[in-house]
Amino acid sequence: MENVKMLITEDEIKRRVAELGAQITEDYAGKSILLIGVLKGAAVFMSDLMRAINLPVEIDFMVVSSYGAGTQSAGNIKIVKDTDVSVEGREVLIAEDILDTGITLYNLKELLIKRGAKSLKICTIFNKPARRRSPIEADYVGFEVPDEFVVGYGLDYDQQYRNLPYLGILDPSVYGG
Ligand code: IMP
Ligand code: MG
Repeated sequence: MENVKMLITEDEIKRRVAELGAQITEDYAGKSILLIGVLKGAAVFMSDLMRAINLPVEIDFMVVSSYGAGTQSAGNIKIVKDTDVSVEGREVLIAEDILDTGITLYNLKELLIKRGAKSLKICTIFNKPARRRSPIEADYVGFEVPDEFVVGYGLDYDQQYRNLPYLGILDPSVYGG
């Protein structure tokens, strides 16, 4: 696609998601998982990840504050849509599209622990460690990505590009960079 430079191919993502699913299946053997996706970005990854986990899995979704039309994080989060089920006593696994500043997941993790989740782990398909501002790391990471604005595989710029089956770097000219 125009304006997007390929970074991680569809095939590489497919293989990595299968590995993550196998690792999670091993780590949670004998347990059942409450997989919570952070919309909208995690929708694509979550739908692939849950089919790669060979255990009982219940899914739920949350909507928290997003970047909107810009490329900078808001600094704190707002719960726009909460989970339908209670996380109390559950083995909670959060599926995220990208761990960037970490502000979103740091706050979300604190909240779900406070609500009594039995365990709380984070699985992110992409990780951008260069921009971290909160003391948080994911338990499962698909790929480390450079300090660039990336789109595709669920990640958007101004609600576009989520449907690209690969991950690419968005040309800064698109957002006036
Ligand atoms: P954080 O709170 O800064 O870690 O931001 C998390 C959210 O910001 C992600 O779930 C994405 O929706 C969005 N985000 C961060 N970096 C990028 C990017 O490079 N492309 C698209 N969205 C991004
Ligand atoms: Mg997001």
